[in-house]
Amino acid sequence: MAVVGSDILIKRGALEEELLPAREGRSRVAVLSQAGAIGVARTVHDRLAASGLTVELVTVPDGEDAKSLDVARDTYLALNQMGMTRHDSIVAVGGGSVTDLGGFVAATYLRGIEAIYVPTTLLGAVDASIGGKTGVNVGGKNLVGVFAHPARIVIDLDVLDALPDHLRRQGMSEALKAGLIGDPDLVVLLEQRGLGADLKEVVSRAVAVKTGIVEADFREAGQRAMLNYGHTVGHAVEMSAGVSHGEAVAIGMVAAGAVSAALAGFTGAERQRTIIESLGLPVVVPGEPDRGDLLELIGLDKKRDASGIRMVLLEAIGSPVLKTVDDDLIETALNAIGVTGNG
Ligand SMILES: NC(=O)c1ccc[n+]([C@@H]2O[C@H](COP(=O)([O-])OP(=O)(O)OC[C@H]3O[C@@H](n4cnc5c(N)ncnc54)[C@H](O)[C@@H]3O)[C@@H](O)[C@H]2O)c1
Ligand SMILES: [Zn+2]
Repeated sequence: MAVVGSDILIKRGALEEELLPAREGRSRVAVLSQAGAIGVARTVHDRLAASGLTVELVTVPDGEDAKSLDVARDTYLALNQMGMTRHDSIVAVGGGSVTDLGGFVAATYLRGIEAIYVPTTLLGAVDASIGGKTGVNVGGKNLVGVFAHPARIVIDLDVLDALPDHLRRQGMSEALKAGLIGDPDLVVLLEQRGLGADLKEVVSRAVAVKTGIVEADFREAGQRAMLNYGHTVGHAVEMSAGVSHGEAVAIGMVAAGAVSAALAGFTGAERQRTIIESLGLPVVVPGEPDRGDLLELIGLDKKRDASGIRMVLLEAIGSPVLKTVDDDLIETALNAIGVTGNG
C-alpha cells in the first residue's frame, strides 16, 4: 500500500522483511527508540547492522517526554556525532511519541533526511504513524511540527499481538473511530470480536480509512477534520481526568454520539456505546469530573467559532459531518458521559 510517498507494510514478521527502501549512498542508520520499545529496537538495530550498515541506537526519554525541543536537540547532536549525511536514514521504533519526534527530527535535520517508522503500539500503527504529521510539544501539545511523510512504515503484527492489554485497548479506540467515520465493516468486526479481533484486519482497515482521508486532504482543509471524531470532548477529558488518549477518545465518542443523535439523526449511539464497553473502554468520565473545567476546556478547543463549537458528528456509521454545536448540546454531551451538576 502506498500513501503520498510512504509504503506501508502490514504483516506478521514484517521486521524480517526489507526494513529500508532502496537508497543510493546510505551508509548510516540511527535507530531512535525509548524504553518501552527497546526490545524491538534492538532487533531492528541488529538486523540492519548485519546488512553492513553503521547503525546506532539513540534512546530518548519514555512516552510523551520524548516530544520536546530539548530531546530533539539532543537527537540532532547524536546524529551529528554519528556523521549522518543527507543520504542516511532515521528509523523510529516505538509508539506515537517516538514516530512524532523521529519524523520531526528527520524532516528538519540537514533540511530533511529519510525517515522510516516502525510503530510498536496499536495506536501508533493505526493512527500516529500514518498521515505525515510530526511534532513536539512546546507550551501546548503538538504546537511545533511539520508535515512530512516517512519513506516506509513497517507494521509487524507479531509485535502488536504481544502488547499489554491497556495498549491494545487504547489503539482499539482509534481503530473504532476510523470505522465509525469511514468503514462500517470494521465497526461490525469490532462489535463481533471485541479485543480479540484479528489485528491484520483491524490495522489494515483503520490504516486504509486514515490514508484515504489524508490523501484527499493532506493539509487539513476539510475532510481531514473528520479524524477528530470523539476528540473535541475527548481532549478535554484527557486534560482534566488524567485518562489515556485512547480512553479519552472513547468517552469523547460517547459524547459525540449523543450530540449526533440530537443534531444529525444518528440512530447508532447505543450501539456505539455497547461496542466501546465491549472493548473494555470507558463510557463515562471516571472520578468526580468538574463540569466547569470540562466546559472551559471544550471551549478552548481549536474547533470553536463565534456561534459555538465545530464538532464532528455522525449521520450514520460511516457518514461523518462537521457541524456547529451550541452550548445546550454540549450539555447533552456532558450528561451522556456522566458529568452532571452545575459546575
Ligand atoms: N502524528 C499523528 O498524526 C498522531 C496521531 C495520533 C497520536 N499521535 C501522538 O502519538 C502519541 C501517543 O502514541 P502512543 O499511544 O503510541 O503512546 P507512546 O508512544 O507514548 O507509548 C506509550 C507507552 O508504550 C510503550 N511502548 C511502546 N511500544 C511498546 C511495546 N511494543 N510493548 C510495550 N510497551 C510499549 C512506550 O515506551 C510508552 O511508555 C502522542 O504523543 C500523540 O500526540 C500522533
Ligand atoms: Zn486521537
